Amino acid sequence: MSKKIYLYGNWKMNMTAAETEEFFKNFNYASDDKVDIAVFPPFTSIWAAHKAAGSGVHIGAQNCYVEPKGAFTGEVAIGMLKECGVSHVILGHSERRHIFGESDELVAKKVKACLDNDLVPVFCYGEKLEEREAGKTFDVMERQIKAALNGLTPDEIAKIIYAYEPVWAIGTGKAATSAQAEEVCAWSKKLINEIAGKDVKPVVLYGGSVKPNNSKELLSMDAIDGALVGGASLKQDTFIEIYNAYAK
Ligand code: PGA
Repeated sequence: MSKKIYLYGNWKMNMTAAETEEFFKNFNYASDDKVDIAVFPPFTSIWAAHKAAGSGVHIGAQNCYVEPKGAFTGEVAIGMLKECGVSHVILGHSERRHIFGESDELVAKKVKACLDNDLVPVFCYGEKLEEREAGKTFDVMERQIKAALNGLTPDEIAKIIYAYEPVWAIGTGKAATSAQAEEVCAWSKKLINEIAGKDVKPVVLYGGSVKPNNSKELLSMDAIDGALVGGASLKQDTFIEIYNAYAK
């Protein structure tokens, strides 16, 4: 139990501002050298989270746009997010890719825009079930990762937090096995280092039905540095238990 664990909660379209305040009542956990904690509320609850969470919890957004301002109805600029205390942004989540049609190219532009503005991109990638069954898992992910890292310097590549999230494991209760997740996370680190041209020590999280009852096994794997948690991050106790189950 020596590595630092990243415990990141993606709230998706859940948690009103009032529920966010409730979540942080008696929240006595903060990032330290053993654990890095972040939550990603919907836009309208970011300010409430920023006010309620205290400085030990990073506040993230689930998306952003690449332009600083202007006629982009429905979008939120990076400067606006920073003003509300945001330090991290989830990009390329499968729900953005597959429900809202975000392309590899758009995700890459967002990654670059965040890096240019000192926000940490939490870059998500992963294969669909039919892609895994067709033996295309690694081809799909290689395309997604290469597109996102295209043209970035090794320093920039090192600043990104990577999250492997197989689409078939998200919200299904059917997490990848620790062996499956380890295989992809280890492969990802190799690919990222190859693209960077040196060992940038990439941080790679696993996401997809992480719960208190499977987190110890997943987080104990060598190449898995943490969890991006959806459903189980909506309650303070299950969220924290995901880390505690491993740390105990
Ligand atoms: P889940 O979601 O934990 O509810 O499967 C993970 C995610 O989409 O980040």
